[in-house]
Amino acid sequence: MADGRTANLAAMDAQLTISALQTQALAALADCADSPAIDAWKAAYVGPKGKAKALMGQIKSVPGDQRAGFGAAVNALGKMLDDALAAKVESSGLAGKPATGAAPGVDVTEPGVLFSQAVGRRHILSRVRDEIVDVFARLGFAVAEGQELEDDDHNFVRLNIPPGHPARDPIDNFYIDDPARVARPRMLRSQTSTVQIRTMERRVAEGGGQLQGPIKIVAPGRVYRPDTVDATHSFMFHQIEGLSIDRVGEGGNISMAELKSTLFQFARAYFGPEAEIRLRPTFFPFTEPSAELDLRIRLRPDAPVKWMELGGCGMVHPNVLRACGIDPEQWGGFAFGFGIERLAMGKYGIPDIRMLFENDLRFLRQL
Ligand code: DAH
Repeated sequence: MADGRTANLAAMDAQLTISALQTQALAALADCADSPAIDAWKAAYVGPKGKAKALMGQIKSVPGDQRAGFGAAVNALGKMLDDALAAKVESSGLAGKPATGAAPGVDVTEPGVLFSQAVGRRHILSRVRDEIVDVFARLGFAVAEGQELEDDDHNFVRLNIPPGHPARDPIDNFYIDDPARVARPRMLRSQTSTVQIRTMERRVAEGGGQLQGPIKIVAPGRVYRPDTVDATHSFMFHQIEGLSIDRVGEGGNISMAELKSTLFQFARAYFGPEAEIRLRPTFFPFTEPSAELDLRIRLRPDAPVKWMELGGCGMVHPNVLRACGIDPEQWGGFAFGFGIERLAMGKYGIPDIRMLFENDLRFLRQL
């Protein structure tokens, strides 16, 4: 059994060992100049097989009444070395720095770091438009464009909207008369269905007067109507139009079922697995049969699901195909069109369409 003197010596030894190790470790840490050296230091001193842990192993040779003190001192050393390591890494920036000699130069031509919040962001409508286009792109639709300043031939006549139709009333459209340049007044397009006509006539012209293959496009863009502005109406808004034309009969790509399935897949992809759609019979001059497209979604996690009207769709009317030089006996199509604001407001729970156009950053920054 150890007498008091031996015990004291053992305790002093232990204390000496601890402070010797501390001195040695700190000196070695100060000498570390690159991250491999830091790694080696960690392994040698604070890792699971390092010297600090090994000291703990010596606790057996420490007299029983001093073991607790010894253990605490070793733990304190371990903590102290960990802190020293953290301080070294922080002040030297050595973490991740490759071995000396292999350090890459700084590329001063690289752009600096900018915070997107300060630079700005894309408008919510642009983002929603692109998200919608992305979904349709995955369903095989290409993007087509038309012009905003249109003639009534593309906005009405070839869409099977006859001269007496109420939609053509000057009160309901922005007509622009420029007799010096064009004989007939033009108009700001009131619907993106114009792009159906523009696309079909271009494809027929490219085919030398005949359509040579299927068409599958979506056309997002601005449309204009002299509506009184309120929470759900604006004189300018955005629509996205879809058109799919294919040979009739074989393959069966063109049918109401195909149309509904396309819209259903879009709704699920964009709004999630809970989304439902329904088609209600209606009338549009350019489709037969025609349907209203309703979407059933939950506007906010805490809100009940509800139906909202999104747009229209149907099978392309034979007169529309004929007006573009396409034989309705050989080709058929389905089309759809809906408002992008409606969709954005539905998805993000925006209560008033005007908020999308007022450019109030306090609102836009939240989206
Ligand atoms: N153009 C219609 C509108 O602005 C929407 C629409 C309905 C487009 C049916 C279509 C369609 O392509 O087939 O109200």
